[in-house]
Amino acid sequence: MRKGQRHIITIDGPAGAGKSTISRLLARHLGYLYLDTGAMYRAVALAARRRGLNESDTSAIVKLANSVSLRFIGDPEDPKILLWDKDVSREIRTPEMDMLSSSVSKIPEVRQALVGIQRQMGLSHDLVAEGRDMGTVVFPHARDKFFLTASTEVRARRRYKERRERGEEISLDSVITEIESRDLQDSSRAVAPLRPSPEAIVIDTSEMDIGEVLEVILMEIRPREGE
Ligand code: DC
Repeated sequence: MRKGQRHIITIDGPAGAGKSTISRLLARHLGYLYLDTGAMYRAVALAARRRGLNESDTSAIVKLANSVSLRFIGDPEDPKILLWDKDVSREIRTPEMDMLSSSVSKIPEVRQALVGIQRQMGLSHDLVAEGRDMGTVVFPHARDKFFLTASTEVRARRRYKERRERGEEISLDSVITEIESRDLQDSSRAVAPLRPSPEAIVIDTSEMDIGEVLEVILMEIRPREGE
């Protein structure tokens, strides 16, 4: 890492691979800022929903993405997201926002608007940057890149458990169907599709607990010779 340059660690992967939990832990451990880029796409989706827009209203969504006020506040390792100064951290975590955020994230101009904000944050902070295209597009020169994955069944079970704990009445089958359709949409889009950067270390977390994943990552990011 050159002097004055920020240390960026990228964590990409599909839904339910354990990215958020590990990114928060890692950010806390290192004293870095946790950048949850999924929350940004979710906040744009929520803003669109509140204006009564649907995913086919592309030009209105692009306008919104370019004018929206998004900020992170609070704990660096577990920040709240503010949309026009209102905390929307809870409202963006619904099944509807799961799918709508994935749909708005297909629009190239929406990505362009959010990528601008994300790179800006990487200029002023050491980051654990979590998303789908952190290592491939947003921070291609990041020193440490990871791609977390797990079998569809394991990822769906994790989401199912979280949602049951929140009191939702859902079936495991419906969570599997949703996760498969979101994966397909995120990995088949034309711009910045979900895929590992060639330099990324791929970690299959299906059979690992969080402590083990953290251990692997910390071993990989130990300062390299000459630094
Ligand atoms: O990580 P998440 O589930 O909160 O992300 C919500 C959606 O946002 C996801 O389905 C795809 C999109 N997304 C993206 O396209 N690029 C990112 N860097 C982060 C999320």
